[in-house]
Amino acid sequence: KGIPVITIDGPSGSGKGTLAQQLAQHLGWHYLDSGAIYRVLALAASKHGITKNDPKRLKTLAHDLDVRFVSELGETSARVYRVYLEDLDVSNAIRSEDCGNAASKIAALPEVREALLRRQRAFRKAPGLVTDGRDMGTVVFPEATLKIFLTASPQERARRRYKQLKEKGIDANLNRLEQEIAGRDVRDCERNAAPLKPADDAIILDSTKLAINDVFQQVLLWLPSKL
Ligand code: C5P
Repeated sequence: KGIPVITIDGPSGSGKGTLAQQLAQHLGWHYLDSGAIYRVLALAASKHGITKNDPKRLKTLAHDLDVRFVSELGETSARVYRVYLEDLDVSNAIRSEDCGNAASKIAALPEVREALLRRQRAFRKAPGLVTDGRDMGTVVFPEATLKIFLTASPQERARRRYKQLKEKGIDANLNRLEQEIAGRDVRDCERNAAPLKPADDAIILDSTKLAINDVFQQVLLWLPSKL
């Protein structure tokens, strides 16, 4: 308690991951990519042949999931976050659109979300936490210090995701990405369990026409002066 939290929620491809990482690095705080947990869970489920039709086994899997985040200093002195499932580096594997879609299907199950709650809250450690996801400000950290809801048009988000995948050497198709992003939006917004929506006290920021650095500079202005 008392440890500050900044939550960045928003749809897929809005730039929330980049913003959250920049803020964490700037402040020297911890970072939680909550979407990565759902993605790793989807990967583990597919390995064990568990489908979304088996919430009971998914709940157990979510509870026992051995997922770890390791932050390293990258070449450009920006921090790089690697994600491990057991001893396997799955940082790239979890970024595929298939994995994102599978994640959004199991993320609709209340049993799964409940099983991951405590694990996500455990990331709140001194001196502070910056986290990104769908329900960080509404469900997981409702008492957060600063809540941002970052959006962008679906076309712009597809374009960004396309660029991001290409840079990682992952094959992608822009039209298919647009359709998948639209499909994921519908699933994430219309589910009953922790749907994607801004918290009442969140600041909504549309990044469609903003460069990454503009978004970062804008949010710095909103940081409470006494953190
Ligand atoms: O943010 P990312 O695209 O990695 O998230 C993958 C999927 O995980 C999302 O489409 C969403 O369904 C789910 N998710 C969630 N709650 C979060 C983070 C992600 O339901 N806090």
